[in-house]
Amino acid sequence: MPSSAAIKLLDLIQSHRITAVIYVAAKLGIAELLRDGPRSLDQLARATGTHYDALGRLLTALSTVGICARSVPGGYSLTELGLALDGSADQSFKAWAIFEGEMLSKSWSGMLETIVTGKTAAQLQGFDNSFELMSRSPENIGIFNAAMVDLTRLVTPDVLRAFDFSQISHLMDVGGGSGELIGAITRQYPRIRGTVFDLPRCKATAQEYLQRVGVSDRAQFVAGNFFETIPSFADAIILKSVIHDWDDEHSSVILRNCHHALPKDGTLLLVERMMPETPTTSEVDKAHAMSDLNMLRGPGGLERSEHQYRLLLEQSGFCQTSLRSAGRFSVIEARAN
Ligand SMILES: C[S@@+](CC[C@H](N)C(=O)[O-])C[C@H]1O[C@@H](n2cnc3c(N)ncnc32)[C@H](O)[C@@H]1O
Repeated sequence: MPSSAAIKLLDLIQSHRITAVIYVAAKLGIAELLRDGPRSLDQLARATGTHYDALGRLLTALSTVGICARSVPGGYSLTELGLALDGSADQSFKAWAIFEGEMLSKSWSGMLETIVTGKTAAQLQGFDNSFELMSRSPENIGIFNAAMVDLTRLVTPDVLRAFDFSQISHLMDVGGGSGELIGAITRQYPRIRGTVFDLPRCKATAQEYLQRVGVSDRAQFVAGNFFETIPSFADAIILKSVIHDWDDEHSSVILRNCHHALPKDGTLLLVERMMPETPTTSEVDKAHAMSDLNMLRGPGGLERSEHQYRLLLEQSGFCQTSLRSAGRFSVIEARAN
């Protein structure tokens, strides 16, 4: 093996260090401290209550990753990449950095067990699924929900560009979490009514969010369990990053409950990653494959190809009518037979 290949491999092996460095920066609020301009190491150490030399070494590492830059002697400023680590940025990934550092990294350290047994982390600990395991720790629910908001906020403009929602009167976001997607759609389409359907634990955050973005007169939160029943008051249902959480058996139950809830010819929209039939080494394919393993270790689902989604929809009473690209995600449109 040529040495450059071996070095590339070593860099890949050590890439968890980058996750850790970004996580520490997120927890310390480095991006927020640099929001208004460069700061000296001394100022940053005092503001974060950290060890001067140790923080200097962290900032050096962050500058090699491209998150901050040495500006004036002994000073640091934020780069374009680092801006997204500021919790108040439009497209922030701060909450995801904390989710990755506090929950996913720990979970992924047990990936070998999952590959050997085919079981999720939750199953290996005697729980039905990761959502049940998460319910034991309210703090983890908060970390997870905030991270999902980061990801959904990034993909929402792509979804709004990809699909014309104007023919829909009432859209229900099943597994809609904190209401990010319904908030954005109802704001863009002032005549649409919206419902976020999710577990009771998402109620307070979703209601507060719908109120904050000024759509609470048209958008509501309804608590329930999508494996039991989904209320029937919408002519269209959207599910983003929900079906990929579950294996075909569980997914079919959710989709059949959506089918029961919809009128005949009602619209079903899935916003998911599309797994290519033959993944390459491209960044997008890598992200899809890693997400697939994340589903395997986490909730027990998978990233599916278009063909797999088409079959799953057919088995659940739907007929796929279109597939549109939305950034790294796709929007599948289907009709209830
Ligand atoms: C991966 S998150 C996706 C959240 C949101 N759709 C988004 O993309 O930001 C999956 C969602 O499914 C919800 N969920 C899990 N099990 C559920 C159940 N049995 N009934 C209703 N919602 C459930 C979770 O609370 C969570 O909000």
